[in-house]
Amino acid sequence: MLLPRVFPLVGAALGGVALAAPAPASDDLPALRTLAAARGLQLGVAVSHPSLLRRPQAQELVRRHFDAITPENALKWGSIAHQPHRRDTAAADALVGWAREHGLAVKGHALAWDQEIPGWLLAAEDTALAEALDAHIAQTLDALGAEVAAWDVANEVLEDDGGLGASRLLPGGDPDRLDAWFRAVDQRQPDALLLLNDYGLSAGGPKAAGLLRLVDGMQARGVPIDGVGIQSHLDIRHPPPPGALPALLSALGARGLVAHISELDVRIGEAGGARWGREAAQAWLVHRVATACIAAPACTALTVWGLDDGDHWTARAAPGPVGVAAGSPRGGAVLFEAALRPKLAAHALAAALAGQRPAFCDQNVLEHGDLEDGAGGWSTGGGRLQRSEAARHGGTHGLHHDQRSADWQGPVIDLAPWLGAGLDWDLGMQLRHDGPAPAPLRLTLRIEDDAGERFVPLAAATAPPGRWTALSARWTPELDGPLQRAELYVEGPAAGVALDVDDARAAVHCPD
Ligand code: XIL
Repeated sequence: MLLPRVFPLVGAALGGVALAAPAPASDDLPALRTLAAARGLQLGVAVSHPSLLRRPQAQELVRRHFDAITPENALKWGSIAHQPHRRDTAAADALVGWAREHGLAVKGHALAWDQEIPGWLLAAEDTALAEALDAHIAQTLDALGAEVAAWDVANEVLEDDGGLGASRLLPGGDPDRLDAWFRAVDQRQPDALLLLNDYGLSAGGPKAAGLLRLVDGMQARGVPIDGVGIQSHLDIRHPPPPGALPALLSALGARGLVAHISELDVRIGEAGGARWGREAAQAWLVHRVATACIAAPACTALTVWGLDDGDHWTARAAPGPVGVAAGSPRGGAVLFEAALRPKLAAHALAAALAGQRPAFCDQNVLEHGDLEDGAGGWSTGGGRLQRSEAARHGGTHGLHHDQRSADWQGPVIDLAPWLGAGLDWDLGMQLRHDGPAPAPLRLTLRIEDDAGERFVPLAAATAPPGRWTALSARWTPELDGPLQRAELYVEGPAAGVALDVDDARAAVHCPD
């Protein structure tokens, strides 16, 4: 690489106009529940107590966009039975009452879950524990059953290898008790939808295969199971393989079972790069999951695990900024900002429900890539940049770069507000030089993040003088932490040769 390690960006930054900050997501989000209803899909959101009931605007948002709620914690055994031999359903009653008042359905989450054994019961004998859970199930159904249309009867009973785990609640991995929970709920509430809920299923693999074996066994034993909740806690760093969720949904449908996407959230905090790019990758995953659900007759409900980034479970874990900084695992995983504005993911969900691709897919993010209305975002490491009509490739203007004193000098465009991990980027521009003979042209990306500074060669050509040459490439970001710098630049022709550039493009590529 001919470029010196310290690239002196001392040249003119044109126009004095900085690249426009990424536009905030607009508030013109159509009512998601209306779009979902047209698809026969129930749209739910996990809500927490007392946060929802303290925030009138959050309540308004829930009512506008969702037709069901899942109490995030209030119906769990550990919440209701937090004190020995007493039941406290105040939080559950408040949320269920709010849903009733506003005509929203309630999903009951979750009756049997080994992580929610009340602390005072952890040391109990096996039989005493089993009896206490049976009593909890019976009392919960008697108290709230009529108000709850669907129950996660059992939560997270599968191991990653697909086996039924041996937990405190299922000693020896014996399915008898699991069957009994479903039978007990069915007996008290025959009309409710009874679900088995688990994580890691949308990745396919041994866990999804084990789930199918488990439900096959339950059906063969005549256990009244109606469906499966596919939690879908995702991370843009590890997107599930595209075919896995559709395959699972159709396998469940073939068994006469329904499927719920039951706890959708998509983390972006530990991926590297700019917030915009990471949120686009998040939105694309939300779109993919929703599209798979819409396409599968078995998939009847989709629930997002949390309303907004400020109230998300990962945001409550520790103090600090939420959902913006790369490198922070906190928050940032759901459809609305902490200020309750819709994010790209909310718009992508609307697009999926309307049968459209997200608006950001394959769209140029560069406001001045075509130099038509200004040259904000462009700069150079040496020489003179001028926006000019003579330098145009298309439209009315292009960018002319002369007085270059080294072959590495060329126009530079700032991509730092945009590039993030999780989706590929298409990067490119049109180039022309006025040298005396064919000359090398190179398009390079200069990146600086927590992994240090590096130069990524994207495309190169030997270009004849006076002719436009397109240089472009698809780039898979490998980024670590926040971006200190992301510059797309041109270099190559000898010092003194002038360059024209136009029609620069940077767009996320949404794979099919
Ligand atoms: C989480 C809640 O969101 C947190 O507030 C709580 O502290 C722990 O539980 N799988 C589930 C949910 O089934 O109940 C979990 O919810 C997230 C993982």
